[in-house]
Amino acid sequence: MRDLPYDRPPCLDAILADAQSTGFAMSCEDRTGSLLATLAASKPGGRFLELGTGVGAGAAWLAHGMCEASRLVTVELDPATQAVARTHLGGDRRIEYVTADADTWLTGRQGEAEYDFAYVDCRPGKYLRLADLLALLRPGALYVVDDMLPQSTWPDDHQQRVDGFLKRLPDIPNFRATPMRWASGLVVGVRV
Ligand SMILES: C[S@@+](CC[C@H](N)C(=O)[O-])C[C@H]1O[C@@H](n2cnc3c(N)ncnc32)[C@H](O)[C@@H]1O
Repeated sequence: MRDLPYDRPPCLDAILADAQSTGFAMSCEDRTGSLLATLAASKPGGRFLELGTGVGAGAAWLAHGMCEASRLVTVELDPATQAVARTHLGGDRRIEYVTADADTWLTGRQGEAEYDFAYVDCRPGKYLRLADLLALLRPGALYVVDDMLPQSTWPDDHQQRVDGFLKRLPDIPNFRATPMRWASGLVVGVRV
């Protein structure tokens, strides 16, 4: 069974080339991206959220699966990193870029369950502030994280964060999730 995607976003190779030339090694891998695009297609007219834009690989995959009426908000702390995503995806009017600490952004968003899909790719919303992130999701919304398996980019103390997150999953109210030992290690969850 060949599990690599048969359909990739047209701009992805250019994004990954810029990632390589700028030394950014944290873009999602193709299998994860393909799953993001597939799941994105299940939310027509959906409101999408990505925390941690990076250079835009994940956003490119999400946008690849989103319909014309869907919208993506993607939040990134580092303006220079996010600028690469804007360069390649800036013409896509469905995508809104927020340059901010996701922790601060989450504080400003409390109170409204407005998203149908969250791809959380930085600490806030995953290892920190998980309850606050989940409060932004509508019933039936998807929650996806990757990099649950050891990555070369991890700092020394990171494994314990991942272990704690996976251990807490069964106790999160109104949430059903499946850990997947596939690609970089995923959790796909649903707000119920
Ligand atoms: C794993 S990379 C994102 C990759 C991207 N989502 C993809 O799939 O290609 C994580 C990104 O989160 C950003 N980041 C780290 N801490 C953050 C924070 N507190 N708020 C927003 N972004 C943050 C980093 O600068 C980095 O670009």
